[in-house]
Amino acid sequence: MTGLPHPPHAVVTGASRGIGREIASVLTRSGAVVTAIGRDKTALADVVAAGQARFCAIADVTDSPVLNAAISDAASRQPIDILIANAGAAESAPFAKSDDALFARMIDVNFMGVVHSIRAALPSMRERPYGRIVAIASTAGLKGYPYVSAYSAAKHAVIGLVRSLSLELSATRVTVNAVCPGFTDTDLVSGSIDNIMKKTGRDRSDAIAELTRHNPQGRLISPAEVADAVLWLCGENAAAITGQAIAVAGGEM
Ligand code: NAI
Repeated sequence: MTGLPHPPHAVVTGASRGIGREIASVLTRSGAVVTAIGRDKTALADVVAAGQARFCAIADVTDSPVLNAAISDAASRQPIDILIANAGAAESAPFAKSDDALFARMIDVNFMGVVHSIRAALPSMRERPYGRIVAIASTAGLKGYPYVSAYSAAKHAVIGLVRSLSLELSATRVTVNAVCPGFTDTDLVSGSIDNIMKKTGRDRSDAIAELTRHNPQGRLISPAEVADAVLWLCGENAAAITGQAIAVAGGEM
């Protein structure tokens, strides 16, 4: 039992696949009314058809006016209780080849996307007797890894935002936390594995080993493990958990 108040309205960004889709699904199964936000209309329609979300809306989290309109529209159906700022993307490159455009892309989607999502949802959430904001950051928000300086900087910024905003909202019933997965078995990591194979000539199992060596359990995290941590943070009994960055990473942190 997670103790979600029944039925809260949850908005999940980047919900068309991977961790976001799993979170949408777990929240729906727990009784939440889920609005899935993303860029891929067909994939989002599939999430709704599969019963993993009740509603969907198309918005790019880097486009503040469009995202704001999508979240306002969702809030007009039912005020928002839960925001999961999950949308993100990872590009890797040595620092010397990470130009301003790469840094801007990483900050824009991984950090400003979270800022835009919270800014859009918070007015609705403040009106409610209960509120939960969970940003999906990364272990790369808590430590460094080579070749992802821009991504890691953006994820560190997310954790700074979460820590400060949680204090600012401590007099409200809205908690703000980050969940920090280690390397997780999604398309995003498949892209990294392909990249390692292409750049190093290693085979797939060696490329996977390169990523899983960071995790003391020697494996990729599953999206379900991340989603369950999110679900716990959304429960009524998690009201005292705020400003935290919780690693789901097999003991890596
Ligand atoms: P994914 O690539 O499978 O899914 C990301 C989702 O975000 C997709 O639905 C994508 O369309 C959406 N998205 C990307 N840019 C967007 C934008 N500008 N506007 C709206 N939607 C956008 O990736 P995954 O693995 O599910 O990642 C989810 C979150 O978890 C991301 O924030 C990622 O940084 C984070 N994460 C992932 C890890 C991994 O190893 N897979 C590890 C740590 C954190």
